[in-house]
Amino acid sequence: MLPIKGLLFDLDGVLVTTEHNHFIAWQRCAHSLGIAFTEKENELLKGVSRIDSLKKILELGNKTISSTEFEALLTSKNEFYLESIQALSSKDLLPGVAALLQEAKDKGILLGVGSSSKNANYILGKLEIADFFDVVIDGNGVADPKPHPEVFLNGAKALQLDPKEVLVFEDAASGIAAAKAGGFTAVGVGNPHIATQADIYFNDLTEFSLANYA
Ligand code: BG6
Ligand code: MG
Repeated sequence: MLPIKGLLFDLDGVLVTTEHNHFIAWQRCAHSLGIAFTEKENELLKGVSRIDSLKKILELGNKTISSTEFEALLTSKNEFYLESIQALSSKDLLPGVAALLQEAKDKGILLGVGSSSKNANYILGKLEIADFFDVVIDGNGVADPKPHPEVFLNGAKALQLDPKEVLVFEDAASGIAAAKAGGFTAVGVGNPHIATQADIYFNDLTEFSLANYA
């Protein structure tokens, strides 16, 4: 590992509590199709794009639907999700996030977001942390979503850094796979299910010490 010059953060479940809101919205969607959906099935969806998430739910239920119904479900899932995060604010940042962003900024470490969400910029605005980031790559800007490494490779490229100089922070199996496929050090955070897949794992970002890496 080279000296660390950049940090790339997943959004949902790493910077902010919104992963739970996605779960509740997908569960409602799955139940409307008569498909059982618990936290266990939701693990398969974490970090996965909106379209691929609905495909996975249909696979779980062994169901096919028309393209019109598919589009309608994507729309209603997103409307329900956005409604549920209306009151989102900086108080919903996960533990250790604000302090780490500030410490990294003070040290001249470059910062980026690499998210599958098409709502990423909207959420960063609500959290009032958008100004910390030198680059935001979201679900609108990638052809191949996680577990493909494109989102993080685009982030590193924009920061003009080699993946070996960048730590990727992830809470999802798909994101850890994406980070590793891109040649990054994958830091797992806040999801015990990915602890053994990540290169390093922390329960939350208060446990992470930047001084050990940069
Ligand atoms: C990821 C979340 O960050 O974004 C997933 O982990 C979510 O749960 C995906 O489905 C897509 O988000 P959005 O906001 O574009 O529907
Ligand atoms: Mg996540």
